[in-house]
Formats: sequence, C-alpha cells, structure tokens
Amino acid sequence: MSHEITPEMFEQPSWDERYGGPGRVWSGRANAVLAAEAAGLVPGRAVDLGCGEGGDAIWLAEHGWQVTGIDFSEAGLARAAAHAAERGVADRVEWRQADLRAWTPAGADGVEQWDLVTSHFLHLLDDGMLEATREMARAVAPGGTLLVVGHHPDDEHTGLRWSMPGVLFTAEGLGVALHPDLFDVHVEARQREEVRDGVAHQVTDAVLRARRRD
Ligand SMILES: C[S@@+](CC[C@H](N)C(=O)[O-])C[C@H]1O[C@@H](n2cnc3c(N)ncnc32)[C@H](O)[C@@H]1O
Repeated sequence: MSHEITPEMFEQPSWDERYGGPGRVWSGRANAVLAAEAAGLVPGRAVDLGCGEGGDAIWLAEHGWQVTGIDFSEAGLARAAAHAAERGVADRVEWRQADLRAWTPAGADGVEQWDLVTSHFLHLLDDGMLEATREMARAVAPGGTLLVVGHHPDDEHTGLRWSMPGVLFTAEGLGVALHPDLFDVHVEARQREEVRDGVAHQVTDAVLRARRRD
C-alpha cells in the first residue's frame, strides 16, 4: 500500500469521507462467508455490526431475516438505506448509528438479543475487537449464532490491508471472549481469492462462528 496508515483512518470522519465519494466502496454483494454460513440457518432476527453500505444486511433481508444494521458512518448508513429501498427490502432493515467501541446490547429494557449476530471486516485499534466480541456475544439469543469475520494477520504481507498493531485478528484470539459453557465455538483461517485492480490475490479470513446453547 502506498499511503501511510494513521489512527485517523479508523475514525468516523474518514469513513464518512469514503462513503461520501462517488461510486460504491464495496461490491454490494454479500460477503461469501456470510452467505455460506447463513444459508444453513432458519431466518429470524439478525444484526450486522459495521454494516457499511449494507451488502450483508440487505442479503439477509432478501433471505427472510428481519435485520438491524449498525455502523458509525452516517454516510454509509444513508447509502445502505438507499440500496435497501432500491432492492425493495426497506421494511425489513432498521439502520442504527453507533460507535461499536462503546456499543452494548444492554439498554434500559434489558439486553437486546438476535438469532444471528454478524460482523464482517470491522477492525478496531488497540485490540478493540476483543471487547466488541464480548458485547456481540451478549447479543446472541439462546440457540442463536455469532459470526465474526475479519482480515487474518497472514494478510499483512499482501499490502492490501489497513493495519496497525492490534488491528488484524485471528479467530482463536477473539474466541477467548466467549464463555465455553455458553457457546460451541468453531475457529478457522479461510482462504479466498480477492481481486484488486484486476489482480488476483490469495487472502485469508479469520472466521469465528459460535452457536449459543439453548
Ligand atoms: C471494511 S468496512 C466493512 C463493511 C461491511 N461489513 C462489508 O463487509 O462490506 C468496515 C465498516 O466498519 C465501520 N466501522 C469502523 N469502525 C467503527 C466503529 N468504531 N463503530 C461503528 N462502525 C465502525 C466503518 O464505517 C465501515 O463501514
């Protein structure tokens, strides 16, 4: 990567600027791991944390889920809402703005829970994903699924990632946030091909999937 990565790039103004530019930042399609993992689940309530332009949330809505999409970027959420309306699923997705470094599913009415809690490529400074995963785990309803996917530290060499110490994570590293009595946990480093500027790269996703026991 040619430009310097700075902490400011992980803040809301930087994301608002990206989403405020011309054209889509992401493909608009669902992430492959989400589509593969959710295909085997019975649709219910889902929350997508760090939903960006809404590709995953909209895919879930189109597959029968009632979805909450959360992100701190107002510009990203505005785009997501517009895409949901274009695809005819606006009534199946609720968009909420929140900073996931401070987010908790606990509110005045108790802990809000979903049947699927999913997050793709949310990366927080200072190992922030560990605490975020703890909160995500609290948001999983009994019998529900947690799915957290991110760029694996092996991707460092590709030069494709925004990375600073503590930003990339392994599934094993996040898995310690889950209580072993409550969750059946599966951790994986999953390979896939990513095409950037017409060039194909082999990349690795950290995949944490956990099912909360009833
Ligand atoms: C790499 S994008 C991934 C978007 C989407 N999940 C996808 O896979 O297409 C990361 C997203 O996380 C959001 N984000 C980053 N830090 C955040 C924070 N502290 N709180 C809420 N959202 C955050 C960004 O605005 C951005 O939309």
